[in-house]
Amino acid sequence: MKIAGKVVVVTGGADGIGAALCHRFHEEGAAFIAVADRNEDRARDVARTVGGAAYALDVADRAAIEALVHEVEARHGRIDLFCSNAGVGDADPDPAWAVSAPDETWNRLWHINVMAHVYAARAVLPGMVARGGGYLLQTISAAGLLSQVGGTVYSATKHAAVGLAESIAIAHGGQGVGVSILCPQGVDTAMLRNSRQGADRPDGVLTPREVADSVIEGLEDERFLILPHPQVAGYMQRKAADYDRWLGGMRKLRARMLSRNP
Ligand SMILES: NC(=O)c1ccc[n+]([C@@H]2O[C@H](COP(=O)([O-])OP(=O)(O)OC[C@H]3O[C@@H](n4cnc5c(N)ncnc54)[C@H](O)[C@@H]3O)[C@@H](O)[C@H]2O)c1
Repeated sequence: MKIAGKVVVVTGGADGIGAALCHRFHEEGAAFIAVADRNEDRARDVARTVGGAAYALDVADRAAIEALVHEVEARHGRIDLFCSNAGVGDADPDPAWAVSAPDETWNRLWHINVMAHVYAARAVLPGMVARGGGYLLQTISAAGLLSQVGGTVYSATKHAAVGLAESIAIAHGGQGVGVSILCPQGVDTAMLRNSRQGADRPDGVLTPREVADSVIEGLEDERFLILPHPQVAGYMQRKAADYDRWLGGMRKLRARMLSRNP
């Protein structure tokens, strides 16, 4: 898919990867960009620089996502690309215990990292299938493919988001609907800076702009799996080839990380 002339929605578009996507889509000549975020002021700033419009919402609110889709479709006739990008991460409160996060964290991350993608897909797919064209970009994470040490809820919800995207691609790929999942490792955003591990990432930290460049390439190729850190493909192969060996390697990585950031 080429972005030129397309009507695009980006959730979490006010900051980080989402803001970089908005800027990059604008450079590629998108016809309209809806910058949807719970941070209204920042969403307005981004919308102003990309000639789009800001929509203040919480992506975990199904009615708000439906209203966003209806409004953009009513004003612009269609949504060509919906980017479910907003997401949140919480470290395990007690790094010694994988299941130390309270139910409240599980519920919050489930709704933002998974159900928001469901609400968006439910709202946009009927129009896309009827037109025989449209595209969903789901910002997930390498944690949805490989697991993030010390982030059980994040890893589990991001794995669920991968499963959801696969199901949508299998069911609707033959109806002209494209699906891509964006699965970076560390990216220099507020989320990473506020994490326990910070910028201490074995494979380095990319800028949001570099991630957005990978997205443009991935969308042009209509590739399901977009991996801004190419190492992730090798890790996935190793995991598939010998799951137990991979788990052993992850245990060693966890021990190293705990000794550095207890
Ligand atoms: N930064 C990383 O290292 C990294 C790595 C892999 C995947 N990701 C994923 O990338 C996506 C974007 O993260 P980021 O790093 O740009 O984070 P960020 O914190 O810089 O930006 C996230 C944006 O989403 C908005 N947002 C959060 N929750 C929301 C909600 N419930 N409703 C509406 N807006 C909401 C925030 O206001 C913010 O503008 C997330 O899905 C995240 O899981 C990030």
